Amino acid sequence: MAKLYPSLLSADFLNLQQELKALEEAGVDGVHFDVMDGQFVPNISIGIPILDAVREGTRLPIDVHLMIEEPEKYVELFAEHGADMISVHVEATPHIHRVIEQIKNANVKAGVVINPGTPVDAIVPIIKMVDYILVMTVNPGFGGQSFIGDTVDKLDQLSEVKQRLNLDFDIEVDGGINDKTVQTVIDHGANMLVAGSYFFKQSDYKSVTKTLKG
Ligand code: DX5
Ligand code: ZN
Repeated sequence: MAKLYPSLLSADFLNLQQELKALEEAGVDGVHFDVMDGQFVPNISIGIPILDAVREGTRLPIDVHLMIEEPEKYVELFAEHGADMISVHVEATPHIHRVIEQIKNANVKAGVVINPGTPVDAIVPIIKMVDYILVMTVNPGFGGQSFIGDTVDKLDQLSEVKQRLNLDFDIEVDGGINDKTVQTVIDHGANMLVAGSYFFKQSDYKSVTKTLKG
């Protein structure tokens, strides 16, 4: 069964505490926390003060997705403030190997992210180091965009490499995941699902969790 991490970007920030409680009761596997800097992506989202509030409000694992330039300057900070997993974009730094080591040294799970326009080849040199690989299924920056179908070829490639090298990284997908697209990504090897706008649009989080996790 796939793991589900609803993206808090689409949650009701006025009622974050109730949202977190409802997510726990729905049986999700963790929460996805999107950090945008207005440089790497054309949008600005949330950062440390909100992470502190989320950490205080839940024991669910927090998956921090850093959509920022120079992630090497901030990974320790996000780890200190309660992240359980941190992913960084390979496009955001010339030093991806060093940043992954930094994340691991901070004792949190390390992930690497590839944009729709980035090939799997870009992360092959560090593939043995990471706990998870996030394949963006939209261009990062906004919730509510449509799933880009061609990205599933990369899920196939990653599944093949994973099997061939006998590795155990998780394959995460983020962007446009809903009741129509979820089966496709699962069929192509994804086992960690992020869902934002589709998830939080529903009134019954338990039933949408069931729909997405299968
Ligand atoms: C997009 C973010 C996503 C976003 C997904 O840049 O990384 O996590 O919240 O939202 P949906 O599920 O609405 O595409
Ligand atoms: Zn994300």
